[in-house]
Amino acid sequence: MKLPDRLQFIANAHAKQKRTGASLAGKVCVITGTTSGVGYAAAKYFSKDTAKIVMVCRNREKGERVKSELHSLSGIEPDMILADFHSLEEVRRAAGEILAICPRIDILINNAGVFSTRLLLNEEGIDTMLAVNHLASFLMTRLLIPRMAESAPARIIQVNSEGHRFSKFIYDDLQWKHHRYSGYRSYGSSKTAQLLTVWKFDQLLSGTGITITAMHPGAVKSNIGRSSGLLYSLFSKAFITPFLKDPIISAQALHYLAAAPELETVSGYYFNLTTEELPANHASLGSSLIEETWKISSSLVGLPEDLADYDV
Ligand SMILES: NC(=O)c1ccc[n+]([C@@H]2O[C@H](COP(=O)([O-])OP(=O)(O)OC[C@H]3O[C@@H](n4cnc5c(N)ncnc54)[C@H](OP(=O)(O)O)[C@@H]3O)[C@@H](O)[C@H]2O)c1
Repeated sequence: MKLPDRLQFIANAHAKQKRTGASLAGKVCVITGTTSGVGYAAAKYFSKDTAKIVMVCRNREKGERVKSELHSLSGIEPDMILADFHSLEEVRRAAGEILAICPRIDILINNAGVFSTRLLLNEEGIDTMLAVNHLASFLMTRLLIPRMAESAPARIIQVNSEGHRFSKFIYDDLQWKHHRYSGYRSYGSSKTAQLLTVWKFDQLLSGTGITITAMHPGAVKSNIGRSSGLLYSLFSKAFITPFLKDPIISAQALHYLAAAPELETVSGYYFNLTTEELPANHASLGSSLIEETWKISSSLVGLPEDLADYDV
């Protein structure tokens, strides 16, 4: 039985996944959030394929452990950049450090993300889920685009989530003063915001040789949600974790999206692992919501709306 388009994501979770024989050997791959879950699995998988990894992580100790593991897998020393994405200033600094050490960038995977049942505001008073899941990846992408354009063909992959279906982007109440907060709504709002900017990035990157796609990495075992408190942890352990898969499937999907020659010019799409899928907000394609989200995101990260001519 064929499901309606908006429920197709249920069937896609069980679809046969695509793989590529193409290699990322020697490609410079910037991956955020490499210390755990999806990002850790991807960094290891890409290292086995002898890609050069630039890890962006917030915890030095964990980062050093992963760095030496990646080194032993590939024989290539990864670079490690430290930044806590709660702070946009740290994202900006991290981007500057990446540009200083990377004369070229072939692949950018914005993976770092959080889920929390509790509302936490960062120093700028922004919901940290919006800051980490959307604004950090938005700012990082914008700051690395000029170098990626020089390195084209290049690919940007935003690790999004089927959780974008939980909520529209709540752009008029970033501190949840007038909307009832829930972790799922905030997570959904942040992922929807990220998706809406992917459509705009795709328009603006046309002709640059850079592609941008968003993907759901599967429902996999990771540390996400760990900061949500005891009740959520117990619930998650009992009712969610037993159904989760190994994050190797996320790593293999990211490898396909990053390396497959048939995707070299494919941009502006949402994938459930490796299956192209209609996201929840596809109806807003071309609508003013995309423009509004772009405008708000640019203003929150302190960049002009135009992609051209800004300093890192
Ligand atoms: N797991 C799933 O089933 C699933 C499903 C859909 C989408 N996703 C998405 O997949 C991505 C990765 O999540 P995951 O499941 O692999 O979770 P995870 O195991 O918690 O890994 C998240 C990574 O992001 C890093 N990170 C978190 N907050 C950060 C911050 N403030 N600054 C810098 N780095 C930070 C973490 O660093 P630490 O190790 O220091 O905490 C870790 O390396 C997220 O974007 C998530 O929304 C996951």
